[in-house]
Amino acid sequence: MVQTLENAIRTAAAIALVFLFAGTSSAAGDAAAGKVKYDMFCASCHGPTGKGDGPVAAAIQPPPRDFSVGEFKFDTNGSGTAGTDEDLANVITNGGAKYGGNPMMAPWGGALSPTDIQNVVAYIRSLKQ
Ligand code: HEC
Repeated sequence: MVQTLENAIRTAAAIALVFLFAGTSSAAGDAAAGKVKYDMFCASCHGPTGKGDGPVAAAIQPPPRDFSVGEFKFDTNGSGTAGTDEDLANVITNGGAKYGGNPMMAPWGGALSPTDIQNVVAYIRSLKQ
């Protein structure tokens, strides 16, 4: 009986630790996995290091966002704050035009799964300098 209780406490402590570590990362996604998709689909405009200076960027107005700055435009969910993880995921999923932005920021919800998009958001966060 005592043994069982001890095990239960140990399990609860382990679960609590997992949540604690999950909470310390800046976004829920896996940034390394996000980089793979980013390099494939986003770097042509947003640039290899996220500075908004990809080969296609020069021709685009307003220009692709510079992720090294870490400032964002669209408050997609009316929360009063632009650029939350949910906002970034919405812009990536639905494209810029839906939120009054540049249609060159195309919707990626068809090519990328919700998990891919979470991972890409985590990678974008890591590009801030
Ligand atoms: C053809 C060029 C192009 C490609 C490719 C592209 N984007 Fe963009 N992106 C833009 C432009 C242009 C804007 C700025 C839109 C505006 O300000 O109206 C933008 C803006 C953004 C923003 C800023 C949203 C905000 O609220 O400020 C995010 C995040 C973003 N893109 C993510 C991505 C991701 C992730 C990919 C790859 C899956 C990607 N983009 C691919 C052109 C592109």
